[in-house]
Amino acid sequence: MSFLTEKLNFTKQTIKEMKFNSKEFYNKIKERRTVREFQTKKIDFDIIRNAILAAGTAPNGANLQPWQFVIIKNKNIKKKIRIAAEKEEEAFYNGKAPKEWLKALEPLGTDHNKEFIEKAPYLIAIFEKKYSLNGKNKVKNYYVKESVGIATGILISCLHFSGIAMLTHTPNPMTFLNKILKRPNNEKPFVLLILGYPTTNCNVPIFAKQKKIFSKIANIV
Ligand SMILES: Cc1cc2nc3c(=O)[nH]c(=O)nc-3n(C[C@H](O)[C@H](O)[C@H](O)COP(=O)(O)O)c2cc1C
Repeated sequence: MSFLTEKLNFTKQTIKEMKFNSKEFYNKIKERRTVREFQTKKIDFDIIRNAILAAGTAPNGANLQPWQFVIIKNKNIKKKIRIAAEKEEEAFYNGKAPKEWLKALEPLGTDHNKEFIEKAPYLIAIFEKKYSLNGKNKVKNYYVKESVGIATGILISCLHFSGIAMLTHTPNPMTFLNKILKRPNNEKPFVLLILGYPTTNCNVPIFAKQKKIFSKIANIV
């Protein structure tokens, strides 16, 4: 079997540059915080477009790119999503969620109110595709969750790097997104990103700022 290859375009850096760049990236990414209070101020669409293109470069199973990003700016659609999300979240917070889960969420101070869905200028609904459709034929995708998770990480990093604040939202369950956004059955909602500029007095939970130290999250063997 033959396949085409091309010379890798790899930017070589000195050790000094590599250390500097890795520290710079860490310093920048550690400023990211989940935001739940947004201004209505618009975002230039080029920023969203670049972030989606960046996400689309993610490593993924067999390069089948098993993701779909639905960018939502329409007010009526946002309203529908808010109503559906609040319905699910009300049930979640008032009985459906196991006590242990609610206890873990307590320090975040979240509840069923999702006003931010309507306030934020853009939402991005990310879907994972168990299989893709080639006409009527189903093409199986591989490592779907892993691939979509990595793409979402790149998307979040790019948006943060570009000065956009966001919330990774997962109303439970999210199947209403298929109905509202008219997405086919092979697409399963992965996360709903809420994007925008934080309000001037935006508060974030101190609890969530505390990240595990290197020796707790990494082993060297
Ligand atoms: C997969 C995923 C789902 C999440 N779902 C919600 C959610 O539905 N509502 C919410 O307020 N925050 C949600 N979050 C945000 C987390 O609570 C937040 O990332 C965590 O508390 C750490 O805070 P930080 O993002 O400010 O570092 C979610 C985060 C992830 C990664």
